[in-house]
Amino acid sequence: MSKEFKRYLITAALPYANGPKHIGHLAGAYIPSDVYVRYLRSLGRDVVFVCGSDEHGTAIPNQALKEGTSARAIIDKYDAQIRSCFHQLGMSFDIYHRTSELIHHQTSQEIFLNLYNKGLLTEETSEQYYDEEAKAFLADRYIIGTCPKCGNLNAYGDQCERCGSTLSPRELINPRSTLSGNSPILKSTKHWYLPLQDYETWLSDWILKSHKDDWKVNVYGQCKSWIDAGLQPRAMTRDLDWGIKVPLPDAEGKVLYVWFDAPIGYISATRALFEELASGKAKYATPQSSFINPSKDGWKPYWQDNETKLVHFVGKDNIVFHCIIFPIMLHATGEYILPDNVPANEFMNLEGDKMSTSRGWSIEMHEYLADFPDKPDVLRYALLTNLPETKDSEFTWKDFQAKNNNELVAIFGNFVNRALVLTQKYFDNRVPTLGSLEEVDQKVLNDLKEFPSKIGSSIELYRFREATAHLIDLARLGNKYLAETEPWKLAKTGMTRVATILNISLQIAASLSITVEPFLPFTAEKLRGMLNFKKSKWSDAGSSDLLKDGHLLGEASLLFEKIEDEVIQAQIKKLVDSKKAMELSNQPAEPAKAEVSFDEFAKMDIRIGTVITAERVEKSKKLLKLQVDTGIDKRTVMSGIAEHFSPEDIIGKQVTILVNLAPRKIMGVESQGMILMAADKDGKLRLLQPNEAVSPGSTVS
Ligand code: 2FM
Ligand code: ZN
Repeated sequence: MSKEFKRYLITAALPYANGPKHIGHLAGAYIPSDVYVRYLRSLGRDVVFVCGSDEHGTAIPNQALKEGTSARAIIDKYDAQIRSCFHQLGMSFDIYHRTSELIHHQTSQEIFLNLYNKGLLTEETSEQYYDEEAKAFLADRYIIGTCPKCGNLNAYGDQCERCGSTLSPRELINPRSTLSGNSPILKSTKHWYLPLQDYETWLSDWILKSHKDDWKVNVYGQCKSWIDAGLQPRAMTRDLDWGIKVPLPDAEGKVLYVWFDAPIGYISATRALFEELASGKAKYATPQSSFINPSKDGWKPYWQDNETKLVHFVGKDNIVFHCIIFPIMLHATGEYILPDNVPANEFMNLEGDKMSTSRGWSIEMHEYLADFPDKPDVLRYALLTNLPETKDSEFTWKDFQAKNNNELVAIFGNFVNRALVLTQKYFDNRVPTLGSLEEVDQKVLNDLKEFPSKIGSSIELYRFREATAHLIDLARLGNKYLAETEPWKLAKTGMTRVATILNISLQIAASLSITVEPFLPFTAEKLRGMLNFKKSKWSDAGSSDLLKDGHLLGEASLLFEKIEDEVIQAQIKKLVDSKKAMELSNQPAEPAKAEVSFDEFAKMDIRIGTVITAERVEKSKKLLKLQVDTGIDKRTVMSGIAEHFSPEDIIGKQVTILVNLAPRKIMGVESQGMILMAADKDGKLRLLQPNEAVSPGSTVS
């Protein structure tokens, strides 16, 4: 066991409320943090777990632009969506807050002023990209261009989402504005900077000397390369109309940099948790433990007392902010503790490619939950066994299916079900008496005892994959024990031995109900119901005496169910389709044709007609021969739509037809007009029809 702290404050990265979040986000920060916190709670530790929506930065108005709505509407929509998904996935935050809340604006401004008043911020005027048409400076995600590191054509001004590099706008090759698409000009503007270089020695001592051995190699390595490259001053303000106002008189139109305010969101969330409880009005607070005592200043020890262990769970693109910039901010204020660890994960890929919402290659939380509403734990398990802890990992639907069918169903579920069903059958659903122990029993009980500390140690070292493997090994132990002792066969000759075996099996199941809770909380709850067993303290797990003789069990049901091939195939198809759809929607429309005069246009005689007959044309894949009632006459039109419509599809349909196109012979038949169609980017043709039926011959103008 690692050192016990007086209290724990655990944070999970605040997701941008600019769109749905995918399972890669869950694997990066959320599921690991939840396992960690639930484990600490089960140990009886005083722990507070905070998260919330990150609602500032250019990511938000940028999305509003895309969706044709306001920034406020965007944050309200996605905060609600993300909040609900986290809840359904069992994320057990004590508070899920929002950075748009007043208390967060105040806390961020206080910290900014604290640094400003101490003279720790420098004021600098520099040239920055400016969009003359939109009349706006182009910070962070308002500017895109080619990534100098990996060549991604659509890297943002603050970061390349393809290679994860942190960038500044001036590093982009061929920069263009996301507001107008124009190339920007340079214009000078004043900002407030945090001189990171002044803290280099301090930071080096703190990370490179004190955390070489306890921080993860990927995290330590990233910090070291930043420090080795030499730290630079970093602007803490932006020219933007969305964000927290810079609390200075000469700062009109300027807001705090999102990476200044977002991590402060952890502090304001903790403050809000205690203030909401103290006031008796819980708006965002959902306190999960009795340690959270409702007093207004209750948040302070969590942030200001050295006996608190602060741990930030984040994805790899957040490392520099949580290990370098935010700690420097906290240190500079002189009022806050520093993180003990930042166990960041790498990225999780999907079916052989990078996960990306914008490319349609992702599994969004809300989509998973819509398709598998009763399986939050299966996703938790599939992610936990495959976390990108030391290097990028890969999620595949086949693996998801295999983890469910071969491990959760075949090992965990099967063991628990056999133990419960046999007890029901032979002992009237009551825990039978433990008789004298044979070697195999002794061995299994000894092994059982070891598991809680094995699982716990892995969690404490942030090795969640390993911890999950130990957990399933405990179920495997039970399964193997039943397979070896075969109580169903022994039942034919006498029940004493069967009683012992089932007693031991049920003790294992009871330990599982405790140890599985951090990983699969819904399963734990179901299992506790089935065992009629309420204990959840980690220290109880491993005992051979959790369920007393004669204890009445609850009702047995299946913990997990098999996932069939068709379900998996449908998900793979959905993924491929969504990528295709996204590629199409991202393709630019065809450029406009040369201008025509009104008189030229007016020469076109376009009518609505009705298709009377349609037949395929011999030796042609593309053509249909149509008879169309144009209102003026009934005429023959050869139309190249056979790949998109069968004759039956089109007979009786209203169509748009150019009736004064000079007749021409096609495959020996005179075609007298042209059916007008909409051609989508995928090449598929669709009919142009009036939104309600009109009489044939109606004009189109
Ligand atoms: O990368 C992101 O999604 C950021 N919104 C994370 C912020 S974490 C913290 F600083 F709030
Ligand atoms: Zn890149």
